[in-house]
Amino acid sequence: MYKIYCTDRLVLKQLDSNDAELVLDYYIRNKVFLTRWEAEREGDFYTLKMQKLLLDQDIESYKRGSSIKFWIFKKEDEEKVIGCISFQNILRSIMQSCILGYKLDVSETGKGYLGEALKKAIGVMFSEYDLHRIEAPVMPINTSSINVLKRLGFVNEGITNKMMKVNGAWKDHIRWSLLNPDHE
Ligand SMILES: CC(C)(COP(=O)(O)OP(=O)(O)OC[C@H]1O[C@@H](n2cnc3c(N)ncnc32)[C@H](O)[C@@H]1OP(=O)(O)O)[C@@H](O)C(=O)NCCC(=O)NCCS
Repeated sequence: MYKIYCTDRLVLKQLDSNDAELVLDYYIRNKVFLTRWEAEREGDFYTLKMQKLLLDQDIESYKRGSSIKFWIFKKEDEEKVIGCISFQNILRSIMQSCILGYKLDVSETGKGYLGEALKKAIGVMFSEYDLHRIEAPVMPINTSSINVLKRLGFVNEGITNKMMKVNGAWKDHIRWSLLNPDHE
C-alpha cells in the first residue's frame, strides 16, 4: 500500500505509472527552472513512456527498501504536482542512512511549502523508518536550498569535490546532514 501524509497545506503521496501525466506536466512546466540544478535530461525524459518507466522504477526501489519518493500537492488541488522529495540510497545495517533530494514548482517557491513538506517527511523517515542520518548534498551556489536545510537544523559537514554531475558538469557539493534526535 502506498503512503500518504498530510500537513496543514499539503498532501505528500507516492505515485506510480498511472500518474505519469501529472509528473510529466510538472517536468515540462519546470524544464528551464530545473536545468541548472539537475542531471542533464535526454530528449525522451519528457515523454509519457519514460515517466511511466521512472515511476515504476521508483515503486520497485521502494519495495526493495532502497528509496522512497513523495510527490507534493496542495490540499486544494490533488491534480497538480507542485514538487517532490526523495530519500534515496537507503542503507541499513550499521549505517541507517539515506540521501535527500527535493524540488518545487517554480511558481510555488517562496511560500514555505518545501520546508513544510520536508519537516513531515523527515519525521516519517526518523520515526517510521528508524533512519539514523539523512544527508543532503547541495551545490554552494544553491542558497535557496541551503536556507531550507539550515531552517530544519541540518549541519554543514564540508565539501565533497566533484560529487555529482549537474547540468553536464561535475560539481562540488556541501554535505548537509541531520541526525535522528532519538538516537544516542
Ligand atoms: C530548493 C527549493 C525547493 C527551495 O524552495 P523555497 O521556496 O525557497 O523553499 P520553501 O518552500 O521552504 O520556502 C521558503 C521561503 O518561503 C518563505 N515563506 C513565505 N511564506 C512562508 C510560510 N507560510 N511558511 C514558511 N516560509 C514561508 C520563507 O521566508 C522562505 O524564503 P527565504 O528563503 O527567502 O527566506 C527550490 O528553490 C527549488 O525547487 N529549486 C530547484 C531544485 C533544487 O535546487 N533542488 C535542491 C537541490 S540540492
